[in-house]
Amino acid sequence: MSNDRKGLKKGLTHYGDAGFSLFLRKAFIKGAGYTDDALDRPVVAITDTGSAYNPCHGNMPQLLEAVERGVMLAGGLPMRFPTISVHESFSAPTSMLMRNLMSMDTEEMLRAQPMDAVVLIGGCDKTVPAQLMGAASAGVPAIQLITGSMLTGSHRGERVGACTDCRRYWGRFRAEEIDAEEIAAVNHQLVASVGTCSVMGTASTMACAAEALGMTVPGGASPPAVTADRMRIAEQTGAQAVALARSGLTIDRILTPAAFENALRVLLAIGGSTNGLIHLTAIAGRLGIDIDLDALDRLGRETPVLLDLKPSGQHYMEDFHAAGGMATLLRELRPLLHLDALTVSGRTLGEEIDRAGPGFAQDVVRPRTDPIYPQGGLAVLRGNLAPGGAIIKQSAADTALMEHEGRAVVFEDAEDLAARIDRDDLDVRADDVLVLKRIGPKGAPGMPEAGYIPIPKKLARAGVKDMLRISDGRMSGTAFGTIVLHVTPEAAVGGPLAQVRTGDRIRLSVRERCLSLLVTDEELARRAQEHPVVAPVAERGYRKLFLQSVTQADQGLDFDFLRATTTVGKAPGG
Ligand code: FES
Repeated sequence: MSNDRKGLKKGLTHYGDAGFSLFLRKAFIKGAGYTDDALDRPVVAITDTGSAYNPCHGNMPQLLEAVERGVMLAGGLPMRFPTISVHESFSAPTSMLMRNLMSMDTEEMLRAQPMDAVVLIGGCDKTVPAQLMGAASAGVPAIQLITGSMLTGSHRGERVGACTDCRRYWGRFRAEEIDAEEIAAVNHQLVASVGTCSVMGTASTMACAAEALGMTVPGGASPPAVTADRMRIAEQTGAQAVALARSGLTIDRILTPAAFENALRVLLAIGGSTNGLIHLTAIAGRLGIDIDLDALDRLGRETPVLLDLKPSGQHYMEDFHAAGGMATLLRELRPLLHLDALTVSGRTLGEEIDRAGPGFAQDVVRPRTDPIYPQGGLAVLRGNLAPGGAIIKQSAADTALMEHEGRAVVFEDAEDLAARIDRDDLDVRADDVLVLKRIGPKGAPGMPEAGYIPIPKKLARAGVKDMLRISDGRMSGTAFGTIVLHVTPEAAVGGPLAQVRTGDRIRLSVRERCLSLLVTDEELARRAQEHPVVAPVAERGYRKLFLQSVTQADQGLDFDFLRATTTVGKAPGG
């Protein structure tokens, strides 16, 4: 049995003698030296996601100290506890496989432990969405603290940062434009400090989305990890968490359809990562809010890209912060936003924009009259190759390839790609369409960021920088190119992509939002009968759960049993 009292009396399991259970609980916590006065205060739990495997969270000790200071200054009791931490480079086979596990860990520990509010500290790509998914399901008053971006480095006088420049320099190395010694020197400079990737990758995208959702204190998205500004945000977050604990403002009152529309608007205006769409879909799904892809595409047509950050533009996150951060962007987007959406401060988004004061001269956030790209970063594609939709990050694509028809060169899976892509006898031309199958939610599994198919080495050596590439996978938010992603349904569950063969013609029209396989329905049905698709299974453990339960990209790759059972609205346009 549990009761719903406050602080450490919350969630008390007892078997007929609640007094004894509380007596025991207090006895145990007093072993850590707490006084009764401390234990009577509002309890603010803090997720400690520090890990030696996660340099994007490498400032965790300082952040924890600052949050705890904020909690105590506001009269609360901070209680830090660990959860899983997931980093992009240390989560084989792919971090996306682990996101739902982290969300379950977060959700269940928020339910299990007594707390009046929680500070979620996340930063690297999958951590913020996992925490928001978990907190949305747990329903505890919650506030997000972002770890912050890394600093940029310098290579032979050129500013560099992870990971758009990682790809650019590696592309030059593959094309034999730079040698092994230089690529090793670049490797020292790409990640100049702890913190998250310094461009508008998924981590920065989710930081901006979290602020747009109203889940951070104002200005919480942009301060770099190692700055005093970041520590001040952490202290403010701690203090605000105590206010949340006292007011009981729950997450479902903040994460409304209007808040998700604001976040999607921001996603488009920052040229955000395609992964941001998947994560927002998953978070919204926990609250019974459906993301409408066609409405999102309409939103995109009226939302220009304003933020001049790599990979769509030229600057880095620290420049965005110096330019005023999200306040500057939100001020510019003001007429397009739901200003009455509530935030963790207890004020509305509109009130927070007003409180941020007037703007100043800067060149990182463009005015709507002079955008980086006239439409939103993402376009939603439909057609017989992607009946459930696909997306392209048009702001990072080559305009010359956005209306294109070409011959498919097909790779059956990631292993086939690795075995053949760099062979000199690969039959491929620059105007072909590279197709990679079975890297979707179940195919790989975990929908890895393998959609950034490398340019075949022999073409790269000849100077080819971009080709039309199509897959059911994802791509890093730091990547660029004419790359169609999230083809739904995926090949591994029998989507039309499974039936594409080398030599077929494929047509992409971003203008018409169309992705077509120029093969008749009869022929596709014949192929499907000849080569039926067998969905992957696993024998045991988490992978078995994942393959049984993961949804497709249009439902955010959440587990079907974790999504809300009733629909309460949709976004955009809810
Ligand atoms: Fe952590 Fe890029 S690897 S944010």
